[in-house]
Amino acid sequence: MKLSIATFASVASIATAQQTMWGQSPATSTSGSSGVTTTRISTTTASQSSTLVSSSHPQTSTSGTFSYDSKTFYVNGKPFQIIGGQIDPQRVPKEYWAQRIQMAKSMGLNTIFSYLFWHYIEPQQGTFNFTGINDVASFYQAVRDAGMMAVLRPGPYVTAERDWGGLPGWLSQIPNMQTRANNGPFLNATAAYFNAVGKQLQPYLISNGGPILMAQIENEYGYVGSDMNYKQALSNQMASAFPNTKQYTNDGNSAGALRGGSLPGALAVVDGTDPQSGFTLRNQVITTQSELGPLIDGEYWVTWFDAWGPKNGHAGYNNGASTLDWILSNGNHFSIYMFHGGGNFPFGNGAGGQNPLQPFTTSYDYAAPLDESGRPAPIYSNFRSTCVKYNSAAPAVPSIPSLQSIPLFTLTPVAGLFDSLPPPITKSSPQVMEALGQCFGYILYEYVATGSASGQIQVGTGAPRDRVLIYVNGVRKGVLDAIYNTRPAVTISLNQGDKLWLFIENLGRVKDGITDQRKGIVGPVTVGGTVLSGSWNHYLFPLDVEPSIPTGSTKTVSSNTAAPVWYHGTFGNTQTGMAADTFLSLPNGIKGVVFVNGRNIGRYWAIGPQQQLWVPGAWLSGTNQIYVLELEPTTGNRVALGLSTRTWGNNPDPDCNNCS
Ligand SMILES: *[C@@H]1O[C@H](CO)[C@@H](O)[C@H](O)[C@H]1NC(C)=O
Ligand SMILES: *[C@@H]1O[C@H](CO)[C@@H](O)[C@H](O)[C@H]1NC(C)=O
Repeated sequence: MKLSIATFASVASIATAQQTMWGQSPATSTSGSSGVTTTRISTTTASQSSTLVSSSHPQTSTSGTFSYDSKTFYVNGKPFQIIGGQIDPQRVPKEYWAQRIQMAKSMGLNTIFSYLFWHYIEPQQGTFNFTGINDVASFYQAVRDAGMMAVLRPGPYVTAERDWGGLPGWLSQIPNMQTRANNGPFLNATAAYFNAVGKQLQPYLISNGGPILMAQIENEYGYVGSDMNYKQALSNQMASAFPNTKQYTNDGNSAGALRGGSLPGALAVVDGTDPQSGFTLRNQVITTQSELGPLIDGEYWVTWFDAWGPKNGHAGYNNGASTLDWILSNGNHFSIYMFHGGGNFPFGNGAGGQNPLQPFTTSYDYAAPLDESGRPAPIYSNFRSTCVKYNSAAPAVPSIPSLQSIPLFTLTPVAGLFDSLPPPITKSSPQVMEALGQCFGYILYEYVATGSASGQIQVGTGAPRDRVLIYVNGVRKGVLDAIYNTRPAVTISLNQGDKLWLFIENLGRVKDGITDQRKGIVGPVTVGGTVLSGSWNHYLFPLDVEPSIPTGSTKTVSSNTAAPVWYHGTFGNTQTGMAADTFLSLPNGIKGVVFVNGRNIGRYWAIGPQQQLWVPGAWLSGTNQIYVLELEPTTGNRVALGLSTRTWGNNPDPDCNNCS
């Protein structure tokens, strides 16, 4: 990808944007890094890659050591019990990283575990983005500033309820690609990724005086394979990217998984909610001396993630405090997954299962001790009571302002999404999303009938990928969606000259278990068995930037089967930082995407269980612009409001409530 002038400008403005801390005005805030931020965009012709970095990282002065014996870890030679919890930087606005880390420290944790998401860091092959939430070096600076330690979980595959488990969608376009395998094209791609991440994070390795103690190879690989050559190749790449850093593997609590995932030279770690059996199993199954060492529950699951669906509830929390106490009292170690889940904004969520598809919600609240908005959930104080018994250095819990309410305001329809289309890409058959250089978002497929056809429409072979809104001459005729096991048939009738629109959404690639992860249309589109051959126009809607709609534009929604519509609204705000946080509610909204002050904050969907979108106060100003893309607009009036308390719940599915 070539970087345009516009790209340079937007990166610079993001990197130099004022950071606002919780409950403080910008003028008095202190950020995790030095006050001066410079933006560097480097293009390395040798590797044909370009890198966007926001660098504000003072150099380290001292080096440290990390080691272990059979039971105990040592940091700089002193025993160190890992009381850890997971925060993924790319799920939290950068402005709030320091606050989230502080809340971890106050709960009595001393180590932050984090996944990195390759699909955000390298959005196009060879183009690396280390700005905004991808400025992971600044995250480790903030961890160090807080006096905490860190454990790095860089993937390349991370599961984590992410789109394709964090793998970039463009991998599917590389010939002979086989992911998570000892495969030349895959390992070539992972080498470039590790190399780029390594350049960012080397100053933050403990050997260079940073907080990063050790790095995880792959993720729960033992569930899917046991290829020593693959594990060793990743280990070698990581040894070069993160030199002098201890490595470990993290696997499920089963003998097969532990055997399959472990690698000589790397500490074998087990995860899950039953560390009693997990630790026993680890010591039974792992017999290679170089894989043995202290027992860590690498992911103590406080609870679970949420998937969209009219019958899918919100996960409640587990009170695991006594289990955590048992771990620590025996001199062992853990990481709480998640300490703070954050969100999957804009489109980073994956999906579970294969049939039907269960896409995960924008929120990754996880019922974690620290909720999506950065405030303690009820379980926080229970965990704190346990942790502080073993970590008396935990500071008091800082007070955090409540979220604000925003009074009801009007959303005005301002433009039809398809009223002014981007330039089309014309092909003789429908193409998959990734072949058009896009990994997330939506594509409009347009076909003008060259003859007559009527009957049931089939959009490609197999299940839809993923949600298809079907229009004939601008009128919605039905929806196909991979979330349904039994999909309703959509029947249409086309005459010569009729315009067929298929608006297709990537709801999130399955996190594991399937190999063909392409989105859009694979294979022919047929109506009543007739292949729609001839010219197909593709209009790309990645929705990575706010629409540019002239002020004063208006649009009338004249029917409940209209094409998607942009609504606009403004709302005031007098708060700063976390006191400005709010939960955005969109009554009467069915399904869509929201931009606040130019940022895509994710998807909403009336079916739930998520019912509001968390809006970071740090992204608000005095007057705020909101654009809502409603995919299924109705003729009724639209409003929005901000709530200070969120709710979870479900509504009937307006597109097919009896589908399962
Ligand atoms: C880089 O990533 C950040 C955070 O997601 C995003 O805001 C920014 O637009 C990206 N930059 C480019 C050039 O894509
Ligand atoms: C290896 O990856 C680079 C990008 O990192 C790409 O340009 C190159 O074509 C790849 N080579 C092979 C043999 O796959």
